[in-house]
Amino acid sequence: MRKSISAAIAFAISATAIMLTAVPASADQPPGVFTVKDGNKVDDKTLEGWKTWRAMACERCHGPEQEGLVGPSLVNSLKTLSKADFHTTIQNGRPEKGMPNFGGVALVQKNWENLYNYLKGRSEGKIAPGHLYPLTQADAPPPPAGWDKPKS
Ligand code: HEC
Repeated sequence: MRKSISAAIAFAISATAIMLTAVPASADQPPGVFTVKDGNKVDDKTLEGWKTWRAMACERCHGPEQEGLVGPSLVNSLKTLSKADFHTTIQNGRPEKGMPNFGGVALVQKNWENLYNYLKGRSEGKIAPGHLYPLTQADAPPPPAGWDKPKS
């Protein structure tokens, strides 16, 4: 009796340990490649990524702050989704699930990596939501107040 209880406990502990080690491994995606200053001033490539996001109106489904709407939160998704899987998803869509395909859209073909890096910046909490400006724009307005504070 005693023996089976301790065996059950040992099993529970080892199962927990497996779960704990498995999570960071799957979330271990390389960081996005971008330069950002003051939260909303970015390098030209990342600016093109944001413009592509706006032009395609991805926010219709993923929310204006990528927080999720009918589509999932990309702030969360980009923490675990690989760059290759991101590309496949954009390229082919997931038509049966409501994600359109952008494989035939020239702007997306040209800028998908910039779009990926923009969304990585959002996901990493380094790029502010909303309007972005070139790094060199001295008179850029500040990003929305408190954007970099964790939401309670
Ligand atoms: C008409 C609504 C709609 C639009 C517009 C849309 N999406 Fe989606 N998207 C979805 C839905 C719904 C899913 C979830 C599909 C699923 O369940 O696998 C999704 C999934 C995704 C995923 C995969 C997320 C994950 O965790 O696997 C990415 C990345 C993504 N969308 C990016 C974009 C980008 C970038 C744009 C703009 C170029 C865009 N989407 C436009 C509805 C949309």
